[in-house]
Amino acid sequence: MSALVSTKGFWDELKRPILALSPMDDITDAACRRLVARCGKPDVMLTEFVSVNGLCSPGRKRLIEDLRFDEIERPVVAQLFGTNPELFRRSAELVAELDFDGVDINMGCPVKVVCNTGAGSSLINEPELAIEIVQATIEGAGKLPVSIKTRIGYNKIQTEEWASHLLQANPAALTFHLRTRKEQSKVPAHWEEMPKIVKLAAGTGVLILGNGDIKSIAEAEKVVTETGCDGVMIGRAIFGNPWLFNREWSEKDISVDERLDTMLEHCRLYEEVFGDKKKFLVMRKHLMAYASGFPGAKDLRVLFERVFTAADVVAAVEKFRSRLDR
Ligand SMILES: Cc1cc2nc3c(=O)[nH]c(=O)nc-3n(C[C@H](O)[C@H](O)[C@H](O)COP(=O)(O)O)c2cc1C
Repeated sequence: MSALVSTKGFWDELKRPILALSPMDDITDAACRRLVARCGKPDVMLTEFVSVNGLCSPGRKRLIEDLRFDEIERPVVAQLFGTNPELFRRSAELVAELDFDGVDINMGCPVKVVCNTGAGSSLINEPELAIEIVQATIEGAGKLPVSIKTRIGYNKIQTEEWASHLLQANPAALTFHLRTRKEQSKVPAHWEEMPKIVKLAAGTGVLILGNGDIKSIAEAEKVVTETGCDGVMIGRAIFGNPWLFNREWSEKDISVDERLDTMLEHCRLYEEVFGDKKKFLVMRKHLMAYASGFPGAKDLRVLFERVFTAADVVAAVEKFRSRLDR
């Protein structure tokens, strides 16, 4: 059978530089993405990664919670991880049924529990299987574009070898987190590797995005100009800063009051989206990040150590505000 080629779908309609919200497990859930879409919308958002084994098992009912999205997030892409091409094909069909705008394959996760199953960045060591997975996903995805998010190597940098291999799988877009699996996030991202990838991809029609350590739109524009890639994914810089992608409104313009109101809105959205289906404790990471960079923020963080529900957060913020008024 000749190799399948992913459709370009929405990717073709995006202006350069493409600014995407990077997927982060237990961070960029549906509530977070909805808030980000309101505060400053990126060009594309990805869900947290979801296991294809889980989606093709009775556990699907619970996992489908991670694949909720709202129209405001579009274009929105579901990210999948696993090792079995047939399960990728079936999961991609499900993603299409759920009416996502695209499917992304995780080939970058460095976490042991994922890598030990052969998934995530372990696929860098299984190049033939990686291609089979992409092809099966393209088959299942039908009209939806298929993209890949990966790293530049496993134990050592192998950018050119790995990028040229993945290009043969004909994805719509390829995102490189510019570190190896071994490096985790412990060293600065190797943006100097990006021009090599751009050169290899020239003329293939595959969009190339870079990822790692970008903290603002200005920084994103700079690396795109310098390296020639089509765009960037930004992850951790969103912590406590859902305004990140807003070109008119930077974080420094946000008053403490607006910051507090936004975190309350985030909690409200979290309860609205997930109810009791997901632990509220997941919100703590966001809360701690919101509560930083202004006078008295530490006191608020101390109050947040004891919050278990959105109502607790409302009470903590009221207490904090009453102290400010005094
Ligand atoms: C808490 C956390 C969870 C993550 N979960 C995912 C994930 O589900 N899928 C994925 O492709 N990458 C995941 N990543 C990696 C990020 O998407 C991104 O590649 C990495 O943080 C580097 O980009 P940054 O410097 O902009 O944060 C995660 C990162 C963090 C910090």
